[in-house]
Amino acid sequence: MRIGILGTGNVGKAVAAGAAAAGHEVVFGSRDPETTGRDLELPVVPVADAAAHGEIVVNATGGNASLDLLPTVRTQLAGKVLLDIAIDLTPDLGLSHLDASLGEQLQRALPRTRVVKTLCTMDSVVMAHPEKTLSGPSTVFLSGDDAAAKAQVAGLLEDLGWPPEARLDLGGIATARGQEHLALMFIAVAGALGDHVFNLRLVTPTR
Ligand SMILES: NC(=O)c1ccc[n+]([C@@H]2O[C@H](COP(=O)([O-])OP(=O)(O)OC[C@H]3O[C@@H](n4cnc5c(N)ncnc54)[C@H](OP(=O)(O)O)[C@@H]3O)[C@@H](O)[C@H]2O)c1
Repeated sequence: MRIGILGTGNVGKAVAAGAAAAGHEVVFGSRDPETTGRDLELPVVPVADAAAHGEIVVNATGGNASLDLLPTVRTQLAGKVLLDIAIDLTPDLGLSHLDASLGEQLQRALPRTRVVKTLCTMDSVVMAHPEKTLSGPSTVFLSGDDAAAKAQVAGLLEDLGWPPEARLDLGGIATARGQEHLALMFIAVAGALGDHVFNLRLVTPTR
């Protein structure tokens, strides 16, 4: 599958490496492809070209930049699936969108794009092939209004090492609020552990 990754930071690099290793055709979209491309092994093109390239386009941009940047490429994103990982944090590590998640705001700003929020509840190191860094199975969440888009993202998650039993579909894009609020829990747990490399595992009742 063709995958465009918007953002060339830790998250973009982690998801790009995992997707490329699984055989996907990955390109990065950067504001400064020439400079950024010197340090990256995969192709780096302007943001609009990466958005045009991807069947799935990954939003790995800084959360405080996403709502400005992505609408500038709304034409290229029309009809596409946007896999949104971004969290918009305030400088003191609070959430910028308390009553409406960034995921919902992106969906509103991009009505012709199908937004699926996922992978934002863990560190970038864990996003691709968690079995390499974690001691046991854990959970990844999906939020989005379009079932077909979520199925497409689930396929990519499978390729990134998230089997069906690890994936939990939370429902519509409104449930992205829950995922984004977990960022606060993530920060607290990371502080308590002194380590960012962990994940949550959903444990259900015995029957
Ligand atoms: N790091 C994690 O473990 C983690 C975990 C969960 C969620 N997240 C979320 O995932 C997103 C990416 O995280 P990250 O750690 O990869 O962030 P990062 O290292 O800061 O990278 C963000 C990328 O966004 C791009 N960008 C586009 N417009 C920008 C602007 N106006 N200002 C700054 N950067 C801009 C930049 O790529 P170009 O310069 O090439 O354009 C930059 O490399 C964030 O929203 C973050 O909250 C991160």
